[in-house]
Amino acid sequence: MLKIGVLVSGGGTNLQAIIDEEKLGNINGNIKVVISNKEEAYGLERARHNNIEAIYETNEDKVIEILKSHDIDLIVLAGYLKIISPKFVDEFRNKIINIHPSLIPSFCGEGYYGQRVHQGVLDYGAKVTGATVHFVDKGADTGAIIMQESIKVNDDDDCVSLSKRVLEVEHKILKKSIKLFCENKLSIQGRRVFIND
Ligand code: GRF
Repeated sequence: MLKIGVLVSGGGTNLQAIIDEEKLGNINGNIKVVISNKEEAYGLERARHNNIEAIYETNEDKVIEILKSHDIDLIVLAGYLKIISPKFVDEFRNKIINIHPSLIPSFCGEGYYGQRVHQGVLDYGAKVTGATVHFVDKGADTGAIIMQESIKVNDDDDCVSLSKRVLEVEHKILKKSIKLFCENKLSIQGRRVFIND
């Protein structure tokens, strides 16, 4: 059973999706700690409601210490609005995954987070968008891609309607990616991730 740590900054609906999946027994892992850089993040509340240790911490060295003290095997960035340092990445190489609300390499990187992603999709006139789960490397949203799923952009979509449909896809592919990671079914060769299902 792998030990999972989840980092959040906001509402934590992705965290909730993982909590629910774990409760269903669908993940060979359990969430040991949830850490947020925002004291009022509802994701911390979700953790508390599920008897998971919830910690508000802005100092990255302390975040690393907390994760190490819990002997964490997988770190999930679930709406974590902080770029993690090269030192953090090196401490947990290929053990950190992130969920991004677009089809990387589009609409990602510096400045593309939350609603800004969907606004970029609408402004550009893209016909499809979606979500991406990827390993975290030292760049911004540049790590090897684990899973993606696309949705159509409707003519009458706005940021709110688009983000709602993308969020559903996020939950779906994040759960699947974590399940596969915990079953040791992901292998990385260069930039490519292979699922040995
Ligand atoms: C969402 O925009 C999601 O795309 C991104 O972070 C935001 C909040 O997600 N990953 P959550 O509800 O806090 O999981």
